[in-house]
Amino acid sequence: MKPKKIKDDIFWVGAVDWDRRLFDSLIPLPDGTSYNAYLIYGSEKTALLDTVDPSMITVLKSHLDEVKNIDFIISNHAEQDHSGAIPYVLDKYKNAKVVASPKGKPMLVEHLHIQEDRIIAVSDGETLSLGNKTLEFIHAPWVHWPETMFTYLREDKIMFTCDLFGSHLATSDLYCRAHWQVIEAAKRYYAEVMMPFRTTIQKHLEKIKGYQVNIIAPSHGPMHDDPECIIRSHREWVSDAVSNTIVLPYVTMHGSTQLMVGYLTEALSEKGVKVEKFNLAVTDMGKFAMALVDAATLVIGSPTVLTGAHPVVVSAVFLANALKPKLKFASIVGSYGWGGRMKEQIISLLSNLKLEMLEPVIIKGLPKDGDYRVLDRLADEIVNKHKENNIV
Ligand code: FEO
Repeated sequence: MKPKKIKDDIFWVGAVDWDRRLFDSLIPLPDGTSYNAYLIYGSEKTALLDTVDPSMITVLKSHLDEVKNIDFIISNHAEQDHSGAIPYVLDKYKNAKVVASPKGKPMLVEHLHIQEDRIIAVSDGETLSLGNKTLEFIHAPWVHWPETMFTYLREDKIMFTCDLFGSHLATSDLYCRAHWQVIEAAKRYYAEVMMPFRTTIQKHLEKIKGYQVNIIAPSHGPMHDDPECIIRSHREWVSDAVSNTIVLPYVTMHGSTQLMVGYLTEALSEKGVKVEKFNLAVTDMGKFAMALVDAATLVIGSPTVLTGAHPVVVSAVFLANALKPKLKFASIVGSYGWGGRMKEQIISLLSNLKLEMLEPVIIKGLPKDGDYRVLDRLADEIVNKHKENNIV
């Protein structure tokens, strides 16, 4: 990979990771990712904005082969996929200093064992002159870690936003061109790590309204030279609005839960409600997380195993609870052979979510006519709740 010129004296020097398929041993990356780093030559000083994941350090090394000096390494985010190569850069450029937020400084010390005296903590709104270019640091905590900040390059009106507006997408495009693909990858990323911080991100979107931004340069995926497109998508995702959609994750063992889920899906779709159904035994959990971004209602389908919910369902419910989607309603459907506390266990796992639980439908064995009538009632109740709340 070669550095890519963004403007005179500004270069992309990151790494595209075409082959990575999992992040944090949890998040599927069907389309790979990139770790974006940017090099800015001022008339007096040179700054490197973020670095790359340690697994791609050889790529960064090759980018910096011809670079004689770096004065500042701006660390917008201390997570290792962006900070992991900072020790290498500090070793190569002995006078370089790292610039981070006050919360970022101790994190870099803890996670990477960087010497404290090589890190400068900057306050919100503080600027750093590179000569003819000025970096302004904008504190933006909890993009998904507490120390995150943005860096605004004033003269060129470029906003470097770390993970925010990023997408896990390996592409040879420097800028977002395949819009549909990029927005889907960005939504996946938002869903998987940023959704729990939705109300904080609302504030960040308000804060950057005060800046003229010609280019958004995130730390994953392509840059945006039409910033409004990606900003508009994020505004929708973080808004309080929900869609007339049910997310229906389920597992089946001997077919009873599948019959119930299938019947409920038909009943709801006949009434004009969209259902996003996920067989958790085979689904891409990233798609499940994406569906939770906008949906009004979650209905969980589970058989009963060893007196509780199926472990795969437990994992999905745990994730949904941790992601804190803006769901309004939930219910449970499922079956048991002889007994158990599946319903109670699932409800106890949803404690983060401020939602109304609609009466679950839990049956013994294969569903009978009467069970289908109860599912009809649940479908009616969901439809009525959506109507009463103007969810259309
Ligand atoms: Fe891309 Fe939060 O690191």
